[in-house]
Amino acid sequence: MFPTHRPRRLRRTPAMRRLVSETSVEPRQLILPMFVKEGATEPIPIASMPGVVQHSRDTLRKAAVEAVQAGVGGLMLFGVPQTRDAVGSGATDPNGILNVALRDLRSELGDDTVLMSDLCLDEFTDHGHCGVLDSDGAVDNDATLRIYADMAIEQARSGAHMVGPSGMMDGQIGVIREALDEAGYLDTSILAYTAKYASAFFGPFREAVESQLKGDRKTYQQDPANAREALRELSLDLAEGADAVMVKPALPYLDVLRAVAENSEVPVAAYQVSGEYAMVEAAAANGWLDRQRTILETLTSIRRAGADMILTYWAVEASHWLSA
Ligand code: PBG
Repeated sequence: MFPTHRPRRLRRTPAMRRLVSETSVEPRQLILPMFVKEGATEPIPIASMPGVVQHSRDTLRKAAVEAVQAGVGGLMLFGVPQTRDAVGSGATDPNGILNVALRDLRSELGDDTVLMSDLCLDEFTDHGHCGVLDSDGAVDNDATLRIYADMAIEQARSGAHMVGPSGMMDGQIGVIREALDEAGYLDTSILAYTAKYASAFFGPFREAVESQLKGDRKTYQQDPANAREALRELSLDLAEGADAVMVKPALPYLDVLRAVAENSEVPVAAYQVSGEYAMVEAAAANGWLDRQRTILETLTSIRRAGADMILTYWAVEASHWLSA
């Protein structure tokens, strides 16, 4: 006979589907991660991230302006230094590439966008870890915190609206908040990388920042097998004063994202990381996936799972599609 319930009625026409659609993606929710390389005179392609480059200071400015004109909600800046040392001195040096580039962008863009900076040592250390090492070669949590405090102040002074501690050291949010406040940067906000996993999906990023890491980050980043500890990290970050929190990577961790979104009092970001980008680009280049549809579906899924904002290397291109 005839089924009484016919969900397909709501799927019949584009107008009906548009009317009942629950989730949208808007350019203002997208944050563009950008790389700037010390000493570069032109953009340098990143082989494992086709379409993404290491910018020179000059091309960074131009690309940042274009991104803001395209309507993206923010920029997340990563620096690639020319020299590295055991304590990551370039991170706290006012003339270090990340701080210099922050000043460039803040003077170019003022308050027209939300300027964010990666607050982590891995790009600046010669061993590639996110912190400094103790005499046994282990990452020293509390010694690292002291450097993060200085790094935060330097980034705030250089013009960051929001700092993004991504090193997964215990207590990092509290220490950074206190340092910023004591230095008078009460209005500089913190986007905490709350649940960051020891993920193989960061592979292409390591090429992008010329990471020196041998080994892994399993003693500080979370185990992909664990969801519960993401909620513990969330309560700690909220208690320590995080203004927004993040789950990273995004697509393989949508369950974690949902759990964090349901329990967070502050906005939630998700980072669609380099490996997620590379996977889709590689498959699309082979003609195996419809590139645009796949990208928009991943962004929609990340939003549906609970992200208020998404860091994505497709931020500008997706913004153009979404405003067309
Ligand atoms: C650490 C950091 C990493 C990423 C963002 N911040 C690398 C890591 O933890 O190994 C990865 C981002 C990506 O893969 O796109 N500074």
